[in-house]
Amino acid sequence: MPKWLKDAVFYEIYPQSFYDTNGDGIGDFNGIIEKLDYIKGLGCNALWINPCFDSPFKDAGYDVRDYKKVAPRYGTNNDLYRLFGEAHRRNMHVLLDLVPGHTSEEHVWFKMSGKAEKNEYSNRYIWTNGCFEAAYGFPYIGGECERDGVYVLNFFKSQPALNYGFYECKEPWQLPMDHPDCIATREAMKDVMRFWLDHGCDGFRVDMADSLVKNDDAAKTGTCTIWRNVREMLDTEYPEAAIISEWSNPTLALKAGFHMDFYLNRRGNGYNSLLRDYESGEDNSFFRMDGQGDITRFLRDYLPMYEATRGDGYISMFTCNHDTLRPKYSLSDRELKIAYAFLFTMPGVPFLYYGDEIGMRYQRIPTKEGGYFRTGSRTPMQWSREKDAGFSTCPPDALYLPVDTSEDAPNVASQEADEASLLHTVRELLALRHTYEDLQADADFNVIYAESGKLPCVYRRGDILIALNPSEQTVYALVDTGGRAVIYGIGEEAATENGITLAPQSCVVLK
Ligand code: GLC
Ligand code: CA
Repeated sequence: MPKWLKDAVFYEIYPQSFYDTNGDGIGDFNGIIEKLDYIKGLGCNALWINPCFDSPFKDAGYDVRDYKKVAPRYGTNNDLYRLFGEAHRRNMHVLLDLVPGHTSEEHVWFKMSGKAEKNEYSNRYIWTNGCFEAAYGFPYIGGECERDGVYVLNFFKSQPALNYGFYECKEPWQLPMDHPDCIATREAMKDVMRFWLDHGCDGFRVDMADSLVKNDDAAKTGTCTIWRNVREMLDTEYPEAAIISEWSNPTLALKAGFHMDFYLNRRGNGYNSLLRDYESGEDNSFFRMDGQGDITRFLRDYLPMYEATRGDGYISMFTCNHDTLRPKYSLSDRELKIAYAFLFTMPGVPFLYYGDEIGMRYQRIPTKEGGYFRTGSRTPMQWSREKDAGFSTCPPDALYLPVDTSEDAPNVASQEADEASLLHTVRELLALRHTYEDLQADADFNVIYAESGKLPCVYRRGDILIALNPSEQTVYALVDTGGRAVIYGIGEEAATENGITLAPQSCVVLK
């Protein structure tokens, strides 16, 4: 387990929209370098950068055309290597986004695979044996290549699935996992990982990590075998490199070798009940002032996963990501403060999505690069009240995506100047986490007071006690604070003798 994960707090950067230094309307590596001090100052000591590789951008770069070359719009490979160096100088780590399940249809492997003549790449993707032979049970495309067969997709039409083999082969065209050509796919992906790790990258966020082996069993035995093999390679060759999966099944993913797994927004799950419970039309998110105050919905889902994965790796909570609505969609800045107090004091390794530290809004705008509804969470970072919100110097119509032009659009400069801002609270919370080991990844998590329909919610991390009240009412719980003193609070000061009394919209941390 890489030691640096113990106190890591990640900042996710959608590179298109973070900071543009050459006035072409799109973010770049130099922009990320210029803002490293800002990110570090916020309390984030690690980055996850969304795919920044050569791509036709039919899915914002999740359609990779060349795994070893960055997209020229962000700069050069050397700029990215320099970014690694600048990050390390500041004691920060950088994860790139690895997309192992599929490539762009423009990747040279795919072009070779689609040739009629058999070659080294013929089995790099999944093909049937004739253009009129359907790949039943899978999304597939026919009629595009000279090769007589249809090929299987992993996501959009532009993203053919790489072939890691089938756990159970049911058709003649399905190769077993141990077929040399399927092993070659796995080795090719390890080669990509080595390439970036050798240049200074610190690991990967792994896209659709559960999607590799087809016809897998319920326990994902096939796909897990591959990841365990990758992890062995890392442990031997790059023991400080970290991998986090987009899987949201930590019980499987951490046993399969991931150091961290995202607890993703899935309809009705515990994470959604905290800040994204709007799918039914009515919003009962726990952190809403008028929510139903039911933290047990979260705990019922989370605790079994937490217990089952102790010692195997970390569950990652996130404010948002490039695929979800921003938390501001549901919560006000006041509500976000309490929500972040929770997310940033939980075990595991937390992730903050760029702009969530100032409460950037979800924008209702047309789709871009395969984003669809997701596009609204991918708009340029709002740095100031200047032109293009300080993101770029280009004419507004040349921006990658429009900036939030509303009168009260939040921005970094204004919040820096305001002690009561969300930005300051995020900075305080992260500083608190870095100060006390009990608030970091490993310390025990114990529920002290959590009742359906009742508040506060009280829990312990190691020896530190945390009590939260997201509601508009003053609340009380008969909790023995064991003589602990207040080390941090949000909102009106709490009374901590003879139980804990919390004012509306407040939280307290005791040690
Ligand atoms: C993941 C990414 C998403 C992308 C998809 C296909 O879910 O987070 O943005 O579209 O995989 O690669
Ligand atoms: Ca640029």
